[in-house]
Amino acid sequence: MNRYILSLDQGTTSSRAILFNEAGEISGVAQQEFRQIFPRPGWVEHDAEEIWKTQSEVANEVMRETASTADDIAAIGITNQRETTVVWDRATGKPIYNAIVWQDRRTAERIDKLKGGETEKLITGRTGLVPDAYFAGSKLEWILDHVDGARERAERGELAFGTIDCWLTYKLTEGAVHVTDASNAARTMLYNIETRAWDEQLLEVFRVPVSMLPEVKSSSEVYGEVAADMTCRGVPIAGMAGDQNAALFGQLCHEPGNVKNTYGTGCFMLMNCGDKPKASSHRLLSTIGWEIDGKTSYALEGSVFIGGAVVQWLRDGLGIISKSSEIRELSESVDDAGGVIFVPAFAGLGAPHWDQYARGTMFGITRGTTAGHIARAAVESMAFQSADLLDAMVADADAPIPEMRVDGGATCDDLLLQFQADVLRIPVIRPKMVETTALGAAYLAGLATGFWKSSQDLEVNWQVDRVFEPAMDADQVAEKRDDWNKAVRRSLGWLS
Ligand code: G3P
Repeated sequence: MNRYILSLDQGTTSSRAILFNEAGEISGVAQQEFRQIFPRPGWVEHDAEEIWKTQSEVANEVMRETASTADDIAAIGITNQRETTVVWDRATGKPIYNAIVWQDRRTAERIDKLKGGETEKLITGRTGLVPDAYFAGSKLEWILDHVDGARERAERGELAFGTIDCWLTYKLTEGAVHVTDASNAARTMLYNIETRAWDEQLLEVFRVPVSMLPEVKSSSEVYGEVAADMTCRGVPIAGMAGDQNAALFGQLCHEPGNVKNTYGTGCFMLMNCGDKPKASSHRLLSTIGWEIDGKTSYALEGSVFIGGAVVQWLRDGLGIISKSSEIRELSESVDDAGGVIFVPAFAGLGAPHWDQYARGTMFGITRGTTAGHIARAAVESMAFQSADLLDAMVADADAPIPEMRVDGGATCDDLLLQFQADVLRIPVIRPKMVETTALGAAYLAGLATGFWKSSQDLEVNWQVDRVFEPAMDADQVAEKRDDWNKAVRRSLGWLS
């Protein structure tokens, strides 16, 4: 008897496996962090083999801890850090280079050459994206140009490309299945989101042989079965979506106009736009939310590159906390940020600024500034960046956005969510279940296999934990946002 859906949530800093029961409740979780590799300033890599190793280990671990067998699992859903690029040898299944992570800036100059002309129009018109080193296309091109013999091997059909969803499916099926889903394909800068096909002209721009590319499937269907030697061997893999898209699905933002913001490594705000792509006039991305039963749901997205990662930096880079959870006590140890504004543009700035050459800055430091003020300013930076996204979204939607659902690790921080509601001036809603990314992938897999019959079945699983109402005086908010804008302007173009 199938009791669970197994969700594999492969994020930027950790691999997690979560078992969900029919009520959408968590029955077991296992998690492992893995190495972040920084070969040069601005470069970020992962070892794709380590991603697979940690992901398969946590899948085994969660099943062991819950005494589950493959018979208990109806299906597997995969959700993943998007854009991170892997190229591997089809014959050996071995990556030919480390995975280049979405935060990596090595192709910034290459992207500059594509900006400001017809190619930029082509990219934005076909993919809905703003040209940026963030997306997979230029990373894939870089690997083909810089790994010895890679381009020739790719042209001979010996190499395969995939984002992490595709890589994990390939490993789980022992090389039998090379697929991705539409939500992940939409982040490559090579995929036409309207015709829903790899775009020949863009493949030419980035000189990518079509033979390397995975087949693009919907986000909810059976792609294959686990063949690897794991506890879940034989279980169908039936759901797949980029993590932010899965979170939108898991938050049940299934109607046009519904908005969610996820506070993970970055912050990602997505709004459901219905069955037609919506072009942004305010430098947001137009993208695919998910595809189910032949129907595509589109989304507008604002991407902030450094959200919760700022806390990791306070821990690992600056050393003012020793555990991420200590941020709460430290930031609450002061009444406010003491005039400090922290722009964590460690990897440039994403939407709506799209500046590859911005870098982190801190303003307003005085002799009275303490670690508490810096921690508080770091927390506030997540809320300020998210407020910039919401402003752009309201302008694009040409309608007010009445409320926002939130999820992700940092949403356990009440201070952050209260400040978020204050600066957004709309209610911020935290559901009881904040693991909506993994839940979204589970829903996609469960719907494909009849574990859940329809989206209506899922409604009962979503419940409010707390609503944060805006409380700060409007003038004070305006003053704070002015200071933030001033600081952002000064961080732009630092490296150019
Ligand atoms: O686009 C990057 C995004 O998918 C990364 O998500 O949760 O690893 O911060 P996360």
